[in-house]
Amino acid sequence: MPDSPIILLAIESSCDETSASVIHNGKVLSNIISTQPIHSQYGGVVPELASRAHEKNIIPVVNEALQQANTSKSTLSGIAFTKGPGLLGSLLVGCSFSKSMAMALDLPLIGVNHIEAHIFAHFIDEPKPDFPFLCLTVSGGHTQIVLVEGIDKLTILGETIDDAVGEAFDKSAKLLGLPYPGGPVLDQLAQLGNPTTFRFPFPDIPNLNFSFSGIKTSILYFLQKNKAQNANFIADNLDDICASIQYTLVEILMRKLKKAAAAHNINQIAIAGGVAANSELRRRMNEEKQKSNWNIFIPKFEYCTDNAAMIAITAHFKYINQSFELQSVVPNARLSIS
Ligand code: KG4
Ligand code: ZN
Repeated sequence: MPDSPIILLAIESSCDETSASVIHNGKVLSNIISTQPIHSQYGGVVPELASRAHEKNIIPVVNEALQQANTSKSTLSGIAFTKGPGLLGSLLVGCSFSKSMAMALDLPLIGVNHIEAHIFAHFIDEPKPDFPFLCLTVSGGHTQIVLVEGIDKLTILGETIDDAVGEAFDKSAKLLGLPYPGGPVLDQLAQLGNPTTFRFPFPDIPNLNFSFSGIKTSILYFLQKNKAQNANFIADNLDDICASIQYTLVEILMRKLKKAAAAHNINQIAIAGGVAANSELRRRMNEEKQKSNWNIFIPKFEYCTDNAAMIAITAHFKYINQSFELQSVVPNARLSIS
């Protein structure tokens, strides 16, 4: 008799995306993402509003995910949710919903670390990386280089000591008066500009760690100084400023990634997280593919930013390993904390 299929429903609600996904034996059948436009008027995510929106969206999003997967609650083998890191109120909506559903249907509950899930998004589609590989995880809250030697063997080789790179993109965009979330807007404008027009200092951090708070301050002083001489400085130079900032941020990432690859003699290199959608980072990764013979892995756009399919694939591996310990939210979770 064939083994019964593993069908999981996964829920992601760590920040401002309510998402649900159904996965069948490791194949994603649906990945519904509902974004929360309300935050753009405040220039950043308002935690209280995010939890309210999750609470409102979660049932329709889950129903749509089940419907699109052409499945029903009765076929499910387990329920997965993001346990952290993330905003406490947002996480609690996904966690409480999942707990209730698992209890009502008498199913196992699988809590998934959000950063781990960004990394395992690489196992949704082909080509999948072989172990060991390096993953540069770059999002609004995290910047890490992780050595991935197996499904449950992840080692952080370096990480930011202050701001995340996504935060640096968003804060730079805010200084330029661009709408939130600024990262993708800055990326679009940067593609029209010259990256060598302006120079910003590189942080002097000796190991594989990152620092982005200094560059944010230097951009602030740079803009203040130039605006004092020309009130229209930003408008007159917007594309070139964006291109120069983007070049600097991506160069900081690439220098450390190249250093890590050389130190560990690994040429399987992946990127993950929202900033993996950045056009310059993707271009530089492709450049290294040619120059340094890297075998690169860049997830599809919908699997880069926050989504439940990445929670689903990570839960699938946990289900196979029967890793169903008592689950609660861990808002300040670090990678590998279960
Ligand atoms: O992974 P993600 O969706 O959420 C977090 O877990 O943080 O990442 C969101 C971050 C934001 O800072 C956003 O501005 C940034 O990813 N981002 C980008 C681009 N697309 C999203 N940053 C630069 N260029 C992009 N194209
Ligand atoms: Zn994320």
